[in-house]
This record gives sequence, structure tokens and C-alpha cells, in this order.
Amino acid sequence: MENRPLKILVTGGAGFIGSALVRRLIQESPHSVLNLDKLTYAGTLTSLEPVSRSRRYSFVQGDICDAALLADLFPRFDPDVVCHLAAESHVDRSIDGPGAFIQTNVVGTFTMLQAALKHWRELSADRQESFRFHHISTDEVYGSLGDEGLFTETTPYDPRSPYSASKAGSDHLVSAWHHTYGLPTLITNCSNNYGPYHFPEKLIPLVIIKALDGAPLPVYGQGLNVRDWLFVEDHARALQTVFEKGVPGETYNVGGNAERRNIEVVQAICALLDEVRPRHDGRSYAEQITYVADRPGHDMRYAIDATKLKNELGWEPKESFETGIRRTVTWYLENEAWWRGIAQRSYAGQRLGLAG
Ligand SMILES: NC(=O)c1ccc[n+]([C@@H]2O[C@H](COP(=O)([O-])OP(=O)(O)OC[C@H]3O[C@@H](n4cnc5c(N)ncnc54)[C@H](O)[C@@H]3O)[C@@H](O)[C@H]2O)c1
Repeated sequence: MENRPLKILVTGGAGFIGSALVRRLIQESPHSVLNLDKLTYAGTLTSLEPVSRSRRYSFVQGDICDAALLADLFPRFDPDVVCHLAAESHVDRSIDGPGAFIQTNVVGTFTMLQAALKHWRELSADRQESFRFHHISTDEVYGSLGDEGLFTETTPYDPRSPYSASKAGSDHLVSAWHHTYGLPTLITNCSNNYGPYHFPEKLIPLVIIKALDGAPLPVYGQGLNVRDWLFVEDHARALQTVFEKGVPGETYNVGGNAERRNIEVVQAICALLDEVRPRHDGRSYAEQITYVADRPGHDMRYAIDATKLKNELGWEPKESFETGIRRTVTWYLENEAWWRGIAQRSYAGQRLGLAG
């Protein structure tokens, strides 16, 4: 399947991970992409400027919950693969307003599955065989780990936040459409992503931007929560590997082998900025670190065992945390216009998700 040019319907292609996938597919594969994105606060078309003029790229602004739109788009674009990334994705926002998470992540995934199933049933036998519905999900569906252990593909689901519960629900729907109707589905569950074009409400870009602005750097609780950081371009390569080579009905975990406490992440950013953009007063950016009230229900540790993806499909992350965070900090320093634009339009760095 990997050598043939494919038509790929990407949902959420204006988001952080979706745009990394679209840039990769247009720049480094022969595939064509239709990007379906509602352009919520999190969708940013400027993230697609490097590829938006390609004849293999097209964009439709629309909602994955809109069955009539999907009934029109599927036969017109006639996809070989669906990469479903559109979602409400921020845990803090799910605490403040869970309704949108149920609507987009659960109802939207159901609507996509129904449209994809109708399309799949009308394909020739050959194309039915190679069709894939690839659902992109999170390791947060597995709940929280103690000091030891890793999430594997067989870890029982135990979601804790409205966000992770809605993603768990969507994963179950995808599995059900495979087992009940035979739709060739794939699920990937990945750890925390970081890298270029990351929306400024998430920890790493938030800290870089606040540091440069001379503002306090908010660290939840004691900063001891552990995340397994995955560079977004490694993730985009993993997604392509999975829809090209993965076995229908299977789940693959994607991780960066880069567990770090949140406080270590913030200190690493401060040290890099001290090196490449020293403060005018000669002091360290680390002096701006401020401990704030913890997130309600904050999961302590996530860590992924990605052995299955390595052994069965040959994927491994290329970036270590040190190389990836350096590339990320450098990108933010060189692309101030991108994130200043977002700060002016839709997000000014305020605290979210305190549960009243
Ligand atoms: N960012 C991470 O660290 C991470 C980790 C694990 C899993 N994931 C999953 O990966 C996927 C992509 O995450 P992301 O960080 O790129 O998210 P994001 O919030 O940056 O982007 C989501 C995109 O979906 C679009 N969208 C939202 N609702 C829509 C709707 N109803 N119809 C059409 N488009 C809609 C938005 O406009 C946006 O462009 C999500 O499914 C998320 O759950 C993300």
C-alpha cells in the first residue's frame, strides 16, 4: 500500500498534530489530502501555509457532526484512507465545558464512522480490502500510572477527565464498527505531543511565550506530574506508518521514550532560553517559575510502551527530549508572528480548568 498515491481525508488538519501530518504527507509522500476542519479556536490555517498551494492539498471548512456535509464529501473526494484527528483536545477546557467534548469527540466520531461505512460498502472489493479508517486517540484513556509501569495496548481503559472519557467513548465506537460491520479500522493512542505550531494554551508553548514576555511561568501543583513527550513530527511519521502498514482492527501505542516531570520540562526550557536568548538583566528565566493550584483530578503519570509499533511496523522516535525541545524553542523564537497572531485572535494565556 505504501508506494501507491492515496487519497486521504484528514479531519482536524488545521490543528497541531493534524497540520504536522498534512505537511508531512504533502511534502514527503505522493498522497493527496482533503483537510476537513471546523476551524474552532484551535484550528489555524497559517500552520498549513507551507503546503496550501500544492495541487495535492484541498481544504473544506465544516463540522464532523454534519452528516449531510459528509454524505456530500465522501463520494466527491472518494478517500482510500480517513485519518480522524478532529477533536476537542484540551483537558482544562473539558473541565470548564464538557458538552463540546461529547458532541465533537463522541457524536462527531459516530457521524464519521457512519459516513465512512456507507462509503466503504460502495467500494470495489479491492478498494474495500485496502481502505482504512484511522482514529487518532490518546494514552489518557488508560488513566493514571504510579511510579512504575507503562501503558500497553492491553491496559484496561480507566479515563478520569471529561476529555479522556470522551476519547475513550470514541475509541470504543471505532472498535465496535470494526467488529460489528467489518470496517477496516486502526486506532493509535499516543502520549503528549510537542513541537512547532503547538497552540499556546499547552504547557510547552505557554512557558516559552510567557518566559519571553517576562511573565510568571505557571507550574501546576508541585510540578511532579510525569508525561512521556513525543515530538510531533515523529508522531506524524508514526501515523503514516500505521495507516500504510498497520493491521485492520489493531491498536498501536505511540510514545517518545521521553518521560519528564513537568518541572523538569519547564527548567529545560528556561535553560535553553538562558543560552540562546538571555534575559536583559542577566538573571535566569527559572526565576519566573510560579507554583499554582493543581488541575482538579490531575493524573500523576502517563508513560507509553511503544514496543508493538517498533517490532511490528518498524517505527521508532528519532528525537530525544533534548533534541526535540531545542528544535521547539528555536522554532518559537523564529516564528513569533505565528503565535503572536493566535494570542491576539483567540487566546491570551489565561488560566483554564479550575472547575469553578
Ligand atoms: N496534542 C496531544 O498531545 C495529543 C495527545 C494524544 C492524542 N491527541 C489527539 O490527537 C488529535 C489531534 O490533537 P491536536 O493536539 O492536534 O488537537 P488541536 O486541538 O490542536 O486540533 C483539533 C482540530 O480539530 C478541529 N475541530 C474541532 N472540532 C471539530 C469539529 N466538530 N469538526 C471539524 N473539525 C473540528 C479544530 O478546528 C482543530 O483544527 C485529537 O484527536 C487528540 O485527542 C492529542
